[in-house]
Amino acid sequence: MLPLKKYNIKRYDLSEDKSLQAWSAADEYLLEAFNDMENKPNNLVIYHDRFGFLGSHLHQEGPTLIVTNKSQEKAINSNLKANYLGPLKFANPISSLENQVDVALLKTPKSLGLFQLYLEQIVQYSSDEVTVVCAFMTRHFSSNILEIANQYFEGVEQSKAVKKARLLVLTKKKKAVQQKLIHSITYNQMEYQQYLGVFSEGHIDYATQFFLENIELEEKDQNILDLASGNGIIGNEILKQQPDVEIHLMDDSFLAVESAKLNVKGENVHHHFNNELSIFADETFDLIVSNPPFHFEHEINIQVPLELFKGCCRCLKAGGKFQVVASRHLNFKTHLQRLFPQVEIIAEDKKFVIYRCMK
Ligand SMILES: C[S@@+](CC[C@H](N)C(=O)[O-])C[C@H]1O[C@@H](n2cnc3c(N)ncnc32)[C@H](O)[C@@H]1O
Repeated sequence: MLPLKKYNIKRYDLSEDKSLQAWSAADEYLLEAFNDMENKPNNLVIYHDRFGFLGSHLHQEGPTLIVTNKSQEKAINSNLKANYLGPLKFANPISSLENQVDVALLKTPKSLGLFQLYLEQIVQYSSDEVTVVCAFMTRHFSSNILEIANQYFEGVEQSKAVKKARLLVLTKKKKAVQQKLIHSITYNQMEYQQYLGVFSEGHIDYATQFFLENIELEEKDQNILDLASGNGIIGNEILKQQPDVEIHLMDDSFLAVESAKLNVKGENVHHHFNNELSIFADETFDLIVSNPPFHFEHEINIQVPLELFKGCCRCLKAGGKFQVVASRHLNFKTHLQRLFPQVEIIAEDKKFVIYRCMK
């Protein structure tokens, strides 16, 4: 067996929280399971390798990595480079795969929709003998994981727990019955479409709805950014009220951006698959709106939205506005006041606050 943790793998999101790590016992268990396989596959595909722990340690196998986020792509590339490893092949969960998958290693995502999307792709692009090894931390187990696995595979076997992680080995794939990969939610008489795994599966998020009910738009807001746009609902509702504005939508998730493209269209609409505002020049926008992220899989990391807020300040024109909705408990006001000269609450309820920050 190869030694574990041969490479130095770092997180590439900012956080002072030392408990947040670049890999878990579930990643180690996956690596061990692969190293124990007697017959190594011709075509190995790795799903949901967040910072590149598996990609780096299995680099010699020439795996394809299925990635969903721009931040993930950047982190994996940085770790490969820092460990003197060459680039690996990336694909996304809705692209067609060039070669038939023989073995898939899958770090089970928090989103069951995304888990299902991954299995859909594997079943569609694999040999009949494909083996899928999924791993998760025991505390994140839900019977829905088994239910979804059983839809696609006859053989669904759980391993014993090691360091509080567990494997699920899937064999004997069932005949492919393609499920719907795009679902829709209805808001304000419009059907918003979204791929499995995109934020607010099945219903509009309460914070989004609260934000849309209280958003302030002025005629002078001509160049607008919907930051962390998800399926594009906030940007589109703005466009319905002010059809002539230039609207930009940016999200870290490929599936979110592809969903937003289905919902928000026009020559004045610009979609960006990115996780940083460095793609925009200083003083670009009159208005930035956001329901920002702070949950990342099973973690909470407020450094990510705080870094985005710094970018917002830089990209706003003088006199421009940033409107942001957030859970009360995050206490963003203190942080926003360090960046913007004027921060006011424009609406609040028991759980959420909407801030207006003037530059
Ligand atoms: C709370 S959801 C809001 C989605 C949408 N605006 C809504 O209200 O339904 C946050 C979104 O932030 C995205 N996200 C996470 N990190 C990001 C980053 N660094 N830059 C841009 N978007 C990010 C997630 O993919 C997710 O779609």
